Amino acid sequence: MCISNRLPVDRVIADDGTAQWKTSPGGLVTAMEPVMREQGGAWVGWPGVADEDVEPFSDGTIDIYPVALSEEEVQDFYEGFSNDTIWPLYHDVIAPPAYHREWWVAYQRVNQRFAEAAAAISANGATVWVHDYQLQLVPRILRSIRPDLTIGYFNHIPFPAYGIFSQLPWRKQIINGVLGADVIGFQRPADAGNFQRSVRRLLGYETKSARVLEPQSDGSFRPIVAKSFPISIDSAGFERLARQPEVQARAKEIRSQLGEEKTIILGVDRLDYTKGIRHRLKAYGELLEDGRLSVENTTLVQVASPSRERVETYRQLRDEIELTVGRLNGDFGSIADTAVHYLHHGYPREEMAALYLAADVMLVTALRDGMNLVAKEYAATRFDRRGVLVLSEFAGASDELKQALLINPHDIEGLKDAIVQAVTMPVSEQEKRMRSLRRRVAEYDVARWSRSFLNALEESHARRLVAE
Ligand code: G6P
Repeated sequence: MCISNRLPVDRVIADDGTAQWKTSPGGLVTAMEPVMREQGGAWVGWPGVADEDVEPFSDGTIDIYPVALSEEEVQDFYEGFSNDTIWPLYHDVIAPPAYHREWWVAYQRVNQRFAEAAAAISANGATVWVHDYQLQLVPRILRSIRPDLTIGYFNHIPFPAYGIFSQLPWRKQIINGVLGADVIGFQRPADAGNFQRSVRRLLGYETKSARVLEPQSDGSFRPIVAKSFPISIDSAGFERLARQPEVQARAKEIRSQLGEEKTIILGVDRLDYTKGIRHRLKAYGELLEDGRLSVENTTLVQVASPSRERVETYRQLRDEIELTVGRLNGDFGSIADTAVHYLHHGYPREEMAALYLAADVMLVTALRDGMNLVAKEYAATRFDRRGVLVLSEFAGASDELKQALLINPHDIEGLKDAIVQAVTMPVSEQEKRMRSLRRRVAEYDVARWSRSFLNALEESHARRLVAE
């Protein structure tokens, strides 16, 4: 069973009051949806709108169990504690985290509700996989209600260094909540290391390579696995999509609409301050200004899908980005040529695959990112072995995708040079790099990721049986 704040589908209520289900945004759903479709099972989560009490239902092989949140809980648990406290804190305080005691109260209450919902429907001895930073207290609560369960927790976003994490007024409770799991997964080895250090410093527990040893009342220790399991995508699925004639036709259409002769540079992100969209626009704008690129022969397509729109930092970011895009187009555009095509929409997978196929250069300039699956999607899509990936070293994906042009997005000069290098890269070098990126993404796909996590859980279950 899988439990996450977001269900794979989001309930969208139209102006006329009619409700529809749409695919949910974000990397967690992108990764977990194919895993759950394949394996089947229950998925416990929030339908994405306040005050919606939806009955459980089946969506193909997945049994959906919606957990309702009130408007106040959406504000305090989701927008507040999850996305205005934990999210900025765990992304190295790129934006300042806000600490409010009433948000913490809501976080505890909602985590309790998720845990109770999972406890109520889990079979005896079942495996429950808890996902992400919105539900860090669930493992401990679930263990206390249902000690028979084997519990996994995966942190999809970074885990910060102790010096940052220790700002959190409720740091011990959070660590202790996560430690309710049998296996705790992180994206990068550095995240797992940061977590283990916080456990040692805050709780005084010993850690031994990939294990945390939790003291028990009888003097023994419960071993908890805490290590990295880098997440991935359904690589074969993306390639299949890219090979569909309609998708290829759409890619051609995009190319001809943007200008056959133009180099297309693409950015695809949730509109989030962690993604480095401002840095990207700055670098691109300066390249136009310096005359190293021109709107006659390049264009930037920036897909920025709407996200967390009621959180103030996100509103401000949107205003800033839209102002910058307007300036760039005003300063450098002409009747014939647009500097930046800015699209504030989410798109279906088919359209994304067509955009990836059409793009000569893919820019991933995150200031901090757990993994960044867009980078992997781009590689998986490019069966023609063309295209160049420019990738931030602050995205987890850079641990694996070494043949990308790796950049530090804070270093605007370096970023500009990498963009020019990408735009002018000879085809033979593109092919060489892309082949290696594709090999990595094909081999380490999401099925392999989930297998290795679930194997670790199974091993820990077997160890427990032996110990009992
Ligand atoms: C990231 C997080 C997910 C989250 C997604 C979308 O990928 O790791 O937990 O669901 O962003 O964000 P949202 O706030 O819309 O759920």
